[in-house]
Amino acid sequence: MAICIITGSSGLIGSESAKFFHEKGFDVVGIDNDMRSYFFGKDASTGWNTEKLKEALPRFQHHNIDIRDQEAVNALFKRFGAEVTLVIHTAAQPSHDWAAREPFTDFTVNANGTLVLLEATRQFCPDAAFIFTSTNKVYGDTPNVLPLKELQLRWELGPEHAYGEHGIDESMSIDQSKHSLFGASKVAADVLAQEYGRYFGLKTGIFRGGCLTGPAHSGAELHGFLAYLVQCVVTGKPYTVFGYKGKQVRDNIHSYDLVNAFWHFAQKPRAAAVYNMGGSRHSNCSMLEAIESAEKLAGRKLQYTLGDAARSGDHIWYVSDVRKFQTDYPEWKYRYGMNDIMKEIVAETIERYGKKA
Ligand SMILES: NC(=O)c1ccc[n+]([C@@H]2O[C@H](COP(=O)([O-])OP(=O)(O)OC[C@H]3O[C@@H](n4cnc5c(N)ncnc54)[C@H](O)[C@@H]3O)[C@@H](O)[C@H]2O)c1
Repeated sequence: MAICIITGSSGLIGSESAKFFHEKGFDVVGIDNDMRSYFFGKDASTGWNTEKLKEALPRFQHHNIDIRDQEAVNALFKRFGAEVTLVIHTAAQPSHDWAAREPFTDFTVNANGTLVLLEATRQFCPDAAFIFTSTNKVYGDTPNVLPLKELQLRWELGPEHAYGEHGIDESMSIDQSKHSLFGASKVAADVLAQEYGRYFGLKTGIFRGGCLTGPAHSGAELHGFLAYLVQCVVTGKPYTVFGYKGKQVRDNIHSYDLVNAFWHFAQKPRAAAVYNMGGSRHSNCSMLEAIESAEKLAGRKLQYTLGDAARSGDHIWYVSDVRKFQTDYPEWKYRYGMNDIMKEIVAETIERYGKKA
């Protein structure tokens, strides 16, 4: 029986991966120590999702291991050895702002943790495909030098620019820009995953995500903007938009579409393959557009303020060009667009928080 090891298995992408690959016939071994509640408080805990997965998936097992704990990670990998055909590494400290509070925690989780997992894969299951969820923050604030135009509700890049029609591709430099400490720890992990591919021949796929979203997101103010925004609309909590007049643009990809991309990669893995992966031109929105849409769907107005200060290193406009992945895996297609994503999050949030409103 093929085994898939998933780190961060109770988080948004990890849990969606657990369900997806379980359905594809894998035995799923999840690693998650609910560190998200340490990062963002108990409202952001992913413990509820661990219980949900254990109930729903008969061939799922959960291990409360810190990915930095090399001894525990090695013992687990050794137990399953070459039966492990796929490793999906999503566990992370995911926020810019939080990283600056505890740089060592951020770096050791994101960089050292990734090294522990890559090395365990090399030692105990070297033929497995290894998927790493990187981030578009590896490009630092370089996207902010693009010649953007201010429109009524969003910043926009014209079609005359090389990135205008399809978004930003993998040729953008990841060097010499401001990343935030989070971006820097993810760069370290991204380059390590590439190196284990180039140097050791491990089949590593590095997915540089835009905004990832979906119903399993435990929204926190510092991470998971659509989930948190909708939570504020539904519960009446005030919301602050950080800078750029609320016109900053993000592309949003549904967790299903991302995990489905993992599946296509896992069937024909390559070594050191780097992909920008997000909603692309297909699915993106500005903050103001997202607020408008959430208010319409939830039937409630959001109390929000436009703060002047942008988050350090935050992108003004980021849309992923996903054509490299589409060229390598032409059978992969989007299932969700921006409107479907918003509808789903609003429905899920009303179910989870609506009664408290
Ligand atoms: N959500 C986004 O918008 C986004 C965008 C780009 C990239 N990413 C990347 O995708 C990955 C998954 O993101 P997500 O939104 O699913 O995150 P998430 O916070 O929902 O899930 C991560 C999970 O990892 C667990 N975890 C954290 N540190 C751990 C540790 N030391 N040991 C074991 N478990 C630990 C957390 O408890 C949490 O359940 C991350 O690597 C993130 O950097 C996310």
